[in-house]
Amino acid sequence: MTFLACRVDEVDGKVCFDLAQQEEQILAENEVIIDIEFSGINFKDALGVLGKGKIYTHYPITAGIDCAGVVESSSDNRFKTGDRVLVNGCGLGENQDGGFAQKVKVPADWVIKMPEGLDPRTAMTIGTAGFTAALAIDRLEQNDQKPDQGPIVVTGASGGVGSFATSMLSTLGYEVIAITGREVHKDYLLSMGASEVLSPEALKLGSRPLESTRFAGVIDNVGGDLLSGLIRHIHLWGNVACIGMAADHRYQATVFPQILRGVSLLGVSSANCPMPRRSRVWQRIGKQLIPKNIQSIVDKEVALNDIAPCFNEILERRHRGRILVNCR
Ligand SMILES: NC(=O)c1ccc[n+]([C@@H]2O[C@H](COP(=O)([O-])OP(=O)(O)OC[C@H]3O[C@@H](n4cnc5c(N)ncnc54)[C@H](OP(=O)(O)O)[C@@H]3O)[C@@H](O)[C@H]2O)c1
Repeated sequence: MTFLACRVDEVDGKVCFDLAQQEEQILAENEVIIDIEFSGINFKDALGVLGKGKIYTHYPITAGIDCAGVVESSSDNRFKTGDRVLVNGCGLGENQDGGFAQKVKVPADWVIKMPEGLDPRTAMTIGTAGFTAALAIDRLEQNDQKPDQGPIVVTGASGGVGSFATSMLSTLGYEVIAITGREVHKDYLLSMGASEVLSPEALKLGSRPLESTRFAGVIDNVGGDLLSGLIRHIHLWGNVACIGMAADHRYQATVFPQILRGVSLLGVSSANCPMPRRSRVWQRIGKQLIPKNIQSIVDKEVALNDIAPCFNEILERRHRGRILVNCR
C-alpha cells in the first residue's frame, strides 16, 4: 500500500521538497504505525523544508515535527489498533520520517496516548508550538514564578508559540504584556488574554547593563536585541524562558542580571524534552490550558496537497498563530 508524504531532498547541494507516494513499511519490534489525521507547520519545518537551517540528519526525509492520529498497527503492547495518539519532537521529522504524511512509523517510546480533553485536531492546533509554550511555563513555575510577582512579557506574540504562551499564561492568572511587531494583531492578542500589546520599540528598553525592574519574567521567541534588552529589566529572582530565534540566534548580555538580581535564563528545548516531563505537560494542556477561543489561533487549515506555499508564509511573517495540516 502507498501513502502520500511531503519529502525533502538535497539535489546538487540545493534543498527541495515535493509530495510523493511512499511504500508502507513493515513494523519492527516496539514500533507503531500511525494513520495521521493532523499535523501543524512549525517555524523549524519551514527552515528545514526551504533549506534555511540544518534541520535534517539525512535526505530524503519526510518533514513534519509533530502529528496526531490513530494507531493503525503496533508491535508494542502499550498501544493497540484504534488508539488515538500524538507524537512531537523526539527526532520526528528531523532524524526520522515525520508528520507531513498520511502515515508514519515511529518507535513506541515516542508515542503519547491522546491526553484527556484533546483529540487529534485540537492536539495539532496546539502542536509543538503550544506544547513549547506550556513547557516554558512549566520551567518558569518550577523556578518559583508566581502571578503576583508581576507581568510576564511574551515576544513574537502573534506567532504559534507566542499565541499559546499569551493565552496559557493569562488562563493561569498572569498579567501578560504581548510584544508584536505587527500592530494589526493587537485585537487578536487582547482576545488571547494579553493585558497590554506593545511593539518592541514602544518598550523603550534602554542599553545600560541594568535598567529599572519592570517585568517578572519573559517567554522569548525571537532572540537578538529584544531578548538582550528585556533581560536588563527583570525583577529580583525573575525568569527568562529562552525559546526561539525568529529575529536572531545571537544576543548580548552581561552577568549583572544574574549575579545582582538572581535572574535565571531558562532553556526550553521541546525536541529532546524527556518523556515523563513531555507526557506530564501534555496532560496539563488537556486538563487546564486549552484556550477557550482556540479556533481563532488557526490561521488556516490546509490539505497535504496545499502545504507548499505555507512554508514561505511562515518565514516571511505573513501568518498568525498556527497553520494546521489535514493529512486525511
Ligand atoms: N526551543 C524550542 O523547543 C522551540 C519550539 C518551538 C519553536 N521554537 C522557536 O521559537 C520561535 C517561534 O516559533 P513559532 O512556531 O511560534 O514561529 P512563528 O509562528 O513563525 O512565530 C514567530 C513570531 O516571531 C516574530 N518574528 C518573526 N520574525 C521576526 C523577526 N525577524 N524579528 C522579530 N520578530 C520576528 C513574529 O511575531 P510578531 O509579528 O508578533 O512580532 C512571528 O509571528 C522560532 O524561532 C522557533 O524556531 C523553539
